[in-house]
This record gives sequence, C-alpha cells and structure tokens, in this order.
Amino acid sequence: MNKKITIAIDGFSSTGKSTLAKQLAKHLGYVYVDTGAMYRAVSLFAMQNGYIDADFFDKQSLINSLPFIKLQFKFNPDLGFAEMYLNDVNVENEIRTIEVSNFVSRVAEVSEVRKKLVEQQKEMGKAKGIVMDGRDITTVVFPDAELKIFMTASPETRAERRFDELKSKGQNVPYEVVLKNVQERDYIDTHRDDSPLVKADEAIEIDNSHLSREEQFDVVLELIQEVTKML
Ligand code: DC
Repeated sequence: MNKKITIAIDGFSSTGKSTLAKQLAKHLGYVYVDTGAMYRAVSLFAMQNGYIDADFFDKQSLINSLPFIKLQFKFNPDLGFAEMYLNDVNVENEIRTIEVSNFVSRVAEVSEVRKKLVEQQKEMGKAKGIVMDGRDITTVVFPDAELKIFMTASPETRAERRFDELKSKGQNVPYEVVLKNVQERDYIDTHRDDSPLVKADEAIEIDNSHLSREEQFDVVLELIQEVTKML
C-alpha cells in the first residue's frame, strides 16, 4: 500500500461519507477534503451578505463576489481533521447549521460557484494521497481516480443520523424537519443541470443502511488493497 492513490467518494447527504473519508485519511496518512464544506461556506457567505433567504436568491451578486471568497482548510491537530475557513475566519460550526443546509443545494446549483470550487479541488488533488468526498468527485473532479465509491442509505436512516448529529451539537430540530431537508436536498442534488449526483459507471456502490462504521471501513480497506496491488 505504498503507492499513493486518489480516493473519490460520492453519495447522498448524511450517508456517512465524511466519517468514512476521515477514517481512511487517518489510516493511510492521506489528506481529507470535505467538498460539501466548501459549498456550505459559500452559502454562509451568501447568507451573511443578504444574497439568499427563504424566498429570494440574488445569484448575480454572489457570482460577482466569488473573487472575494477565500476558502481554506486548516488542519486542527486536536480534532485530527482540517477545519473550514472563510476569508480567514473559522466557520466549521456555522456551516453545519440547519439554515445553511436549507440553502446549500440552491447555491450548489450555480455553475460559476461549481467552476471555482472544482478548480480548487483539482489543484488540491494534484499530489494524490487524497480522500475527497462530495457529489461530483467521481464524475467531474477526479474522473480518473483509482478508487471511486458511491455511498447510499435510506432517507430515514440518514435523517436519523443527521438528527442525532444536530442534537449532539445542541440544535434541537424536529426529526420531520431533518427528513424533509434530506429529501429536498436529494431531489435538488440529483436533478440540477450542472454536475448532478449520479453514480459513475466504475464506482463501487456501498449501501451502509445496515453496516457499522467498522464493517464499512473494512470493506473499503480491502478495495484499496485490491486497487493498489494492481498498480
Ligand atoms: O456533503 P454535504 O451534505 O455537506 O453537502 C452540502 C451540499 O453541497 C449538498 O446538498 C450538495 C452540495 N455539494 C455539491 O453539490 N457538490 C459537492 N461536491 C459537494 C457538496
């Protein structure tokens, strides 16, 4: 397992992509990039500047502001993963709120936003030794990745996970609201014109509705071993 590869992971929201990706990166000594955090940070920027709310989206102002949006990941050794910075401010917590979750799919539909973020993501993966997760990583960002994974789980399972996660952070959002958000995002993510979420032909599908974190990790480690053996 010496040769560094690119591991691209796509899937619906709350399928545990980032948990798996973080485990893999730690185990392999790879860099982990959560591309959802980047779309979330751009959404937070749009919210902070009054470009988006429940029934209004000033796309053009957001597009005009793109050159002034600086996104960085900075590794936090205490947490063991990189946190998201928006214009030099740590926004790791703010980007995980239900408000940002409600707006992010609409922001992620904007082609100019996608173009900027995809460029940055490709750049980050140049040296390989990277695990990146999102919606278009296997199809657009790294179509030549040595290992491509597509993760799924039932909407109810995913809503329960997100509900527990929000609760653990002190955000008491009703389960029905979380489920609705998961279903709406699934719809928008799979139906948008630019880079919709689809399973790449060569991607290996993992349904983790009934898999523990450990079982899932072992399945993927075996896949990595198979891939690196062939290099
Ligand atoms: O993985 P996540 O739930 O944090 O992603 C937040 C949103 O960002 C999701 O609704 C779709 C969008 N996204 C995207 O369009 N492309 C990516 N590569 C990653 C996320």
